[in-house]
Amino acid sequence: MSVIEEKARAAAARPVDRLTLVDMDVIGCPFHAYQKLREEAPVFLDRAGGFYVLSRYDDISRALKDTKTFSSDSLVPREEYDRPTQYGGLAQVDTMITSDPPKHRYMRGPLNKLFSLTRVNKMEAYVQQIVDELVDGFIDDGHCDFVRQYTVPLPMYVIADQLGVTRDDLSSFARWSDAFATLVSGFATEEDKIWAAKQNVEMQNYFLKVIPEKRKNPTEDVISDLARAKLEDGQPMRDVDILSSIHLLLTAGNETTTNSMSLAMRTLIEHPDQMQALRDDPSLMDGFIEESLRFDGPVQGLMRRTTCDVEVGGVMIPKDSMVNLRFGSGNRDEAKYTQPEQFNVCRKEDVTHLAFGQGTHFCLGASLARKEISLTFSTLLRRMRNIRLVDPSAEMEYERNMALRSLKHLHIAFDKA
Ligand code: HEM
Repeated sequence: MSVIEEKARAAAARPVDRLTLVDMDVIGCPFHAYQKLREEAPVFLDRAGGFYVLSRYDDISRALKDTKTFSSDSLVPREEYDRPTQYGGLAQVDTMITSDPPKHRYMRGPLNKLFSLTRVNKMEAYVQQIVDELVDGFIDDGHCDFVRQYTVPLPMYVIADQLGVTRDDLSSFARWSDAFATLVSGFATEEDKIWAAKQNVEMQNYFLKVIPEKRKNPTEDVISDLARAKLEDGQPMRDVDILSSIHLLLTAGNETTTNSMSLAMRTLIEHPDQMQALRDDPSLMDGFIEESLRFDGPVQGLMRRTTCDVEVGGVMIPKDSMVNLRFGSGNRDEAKYTQPEQFNVCRKEDVTHLAFGQGTHFCLGASLARKEISLTFSTLLRRMRNIRLVDPSAEMEYERNMALRSLKHLHIAFDKA
């Protein structure tokens, strides 16, 4: 048993009132703690974290659909909205992800069609080209750090191209995206928050130069579309709205897609029979994508704020409580799935999951993410044989983040097919 697994089991063996999700022993492998919560305290007050946790699929699904009671307005800590002004920047404004209906529809409207399935299908050849370029970069070496050399750059190239900005600035993009991840990590110190605000200001300054340029000379890209877009009241989007939308796309679309592919690769390597099944029958690809997102998804849980006292599963949650909807636990709920702890690319029963959320805030980029994952694994399985870990005894390392599940590295070896 790995050290991570041992620590995770020990953490889950504590009395339930001593469990907390803000704990690296749980973060390394949260599934034992989730199981305990579902069994013993499905509506759990995490005292160390200062929030409630919903861990059962049905409770999470209901909360996601009840936006009146479970508001998204505090998904990003509100006290951080103004902090950029201390460093010469603009205050953060709400985007779709921090807005409840009806404002939400108004914010999502201009972006909805930009990542529609039709548009994503048209991007296929272009995404395939990036996939091939990245794989060409390491295929002859017989090994790579799959995270640094593949899963980090792929979504970043895609989103930079979609925004219509040069790929030269990718290291800045990565920093801006990390800053957001830090804010929702549950571990952010005062120093981290200041750093995140400074990153936000740097990003604002970068895009404040790009937006007027795109207004003057629009091209085929998302910023040009946003600069021309009209809100429902017929008004154009303000620069500050466009900036916040860009910030959201950069942050919501990068880390998540990166981590989904890193985790899916780790899971496949740990389940060689499933990797072989996928090689033998490429029509299982869609099933594999959904199963890997269910089994070990990149967004483990996100916050809501209760707008009134609400009873869930016999527990009264007071108004203005923070509630963490634990998607990663709902996705392993025994009441929803047969053998939820098994990774099975041929899963036949209900394969819906919570990895992209549900209802109003269902992931805007789900079609794009699925396309990137699909092209990635079909290409890798075609071009590589015998994919394995470079050092099976090395411990996996995860970022300190209780919202996003993030592998720091994944050193793999392979034979060129
Ligand atoms: C595997 C990759 C991805 C995962 C697991 C994922 C997960 C999620 C989840 C769980 C939500 C719901 C948030 C909530 O309920 O509060 C969400 C929303 C969102 N995602 Fe994704 N995401 C992924 C990729 C992307 C990509 C590639 C983009 C952008 C191109 C994107 C853009 C968004 C946006 C804008 C929202 C907010 C939607 C709204 O509030 O209406 N995501 N995502």
